[in-house]
Amino acid sequence: MIEYRSIRVALLGAGSVGSQVARLLLEHADELAARIGAKLELVGIAVRDVDAKRDADLPRELFTTDAETLILGADVVVELMGGLEPARTLVLQAIASGADVVTGNKALLAAHGPELFAAAEQVGAQLSYEAAVGGAIPIIRPLRESLAGDRVDRILGIVNGTTNFILDRMDSTGASLEDALATATELGYAEADPTADIGGYDAAQKATILASLAFHTSVPVEAVHREGITGVTAEQIASAQRAGYVVKLLAICERLADPDTGDEGVSVRVYPALVPRTHPLAAVRGANNAVFVEAAAAGPLMFYGAGAGGVQTASAVLGDLVAIARRHVVGGPGTSESTHADVAVLPIGSITTRYAITLEVEDEPGVLAKIAKLFSEHGVSVEQLQQTVDEGSGRATLVIGTHEAREQALADTVAALAAHPVVASVASVLRVEGS
Ligand code: HSE
Repeated sequence: MIEYRSIRVALLGAGSVGSQVARLLLEHADELAARIGAKLELVGIAVRDVDAKRDADLPRELFTTDAETLILGADVVVELMGGLEPARTLVLQAIASGADVVTGNKALLAAHGPELFAAAEQVGAQLSYEAAVGGAIPIIRPLRESLAGDRVDRILGIVNGTTNFILDRMDSTGASLEDALATATELGYAEADPTADIGGYDAAQKATILASLAFHTSVPVEAVHREGITGVTAEQIASAQRAGYVVKLLAICERLADPDTGDEGVSVRVYPALVPRTHPLAAVRGANNAVFVEAAAAGPLMFYGAGAGGVQTASAVLGDLVAIARRHVVGGPGTSESTHADVAVLPIGSITTRYAITLEVEDEPGVLAKIAKLFSEHGVSVEQLQQTVDEGSGRATLVIGTHEAREQALADTVAALAAHPVVASVASVLRVEGS
């Protein structure tokens, strides 16, 4: 029997996710009420244009353009409008008025997370954001709750579906980046302006959220080292295939010791990397997402599924909503974010990684020795070397795989190679991860 009063839900935004959240709330009202022990009452949906076409057929009387009034009196505000403003102001107003908040807005959390979490903590409100990373994939709650007693050492995430689709398409068809991007746009994966995805900005925002949560520290998005996929070529993909790798845009969050002081720090970075084809992340195809977590006690875990999509992402929003509503029924304050660890975010030069370097060199006696000397001068050890000679041009292509070394030493080696007279060009440099 349901005895608790209805829980009033105000929805901000009715785009592809928001309209599905509203639809599911209305269609599954009785089932949700039975699970929660109280009814979820959708009191209104704030939008810019009441008459705009929606992905779901929703009662017109629910729509309003007055978000500020809608928020007043709501128990839970679901923010799915995206962007920084007015989302930030409205979320702060919702918290100040006593509401809990569910958001799927990764840009907002990446830019203003600490301010919003502090505001929520001050009044004991809940701020939940499962939909902000990995769409439908449960990853925030597992990090926040299931792994709360463990120590997360590393996260390797494919957190951007558009770029995974593009790289997968290049890998499976041999297409160029431009052609694969055109297909992604045609199929509706890529936005008209794909910069946020292919530039790695979207993945960097998600990396900030994951790292802050996993390492109990605040990671500003500006501290995330970011490289997009715009420089990835069909040749790099083909060469990766030959060597048993696949190129993936990875969001990497890793604990490591500061190489200069020995103090504990974290590295948070986004770049395209070579992943062994035997690694579970290599099996993530198309626009899917996956987050590979390495925890001290649990060992490796992988969370996989749809990283975007209206109804898929609505599942994550509804999960947050049900959890918040249940807390209303049982009482007590919300879960606050723990940033007690306060560890330094180390610069990219501090990490240890492996490089795969492709060089065009003159095919002359002594060239290999000069190149080997250069690696040794920078303290970088070569693991593999493959040479292909083009008789016509008199040039050779060298593919060199290094052992693990400091990023700074590897980057300095590449700079020295590029400046060396025997090197015609540095055709490709990719890091190797996940091995
Ligand atoms: N643009 C994102 C992606 C989806 O391609 O994965 C929403 O986060």
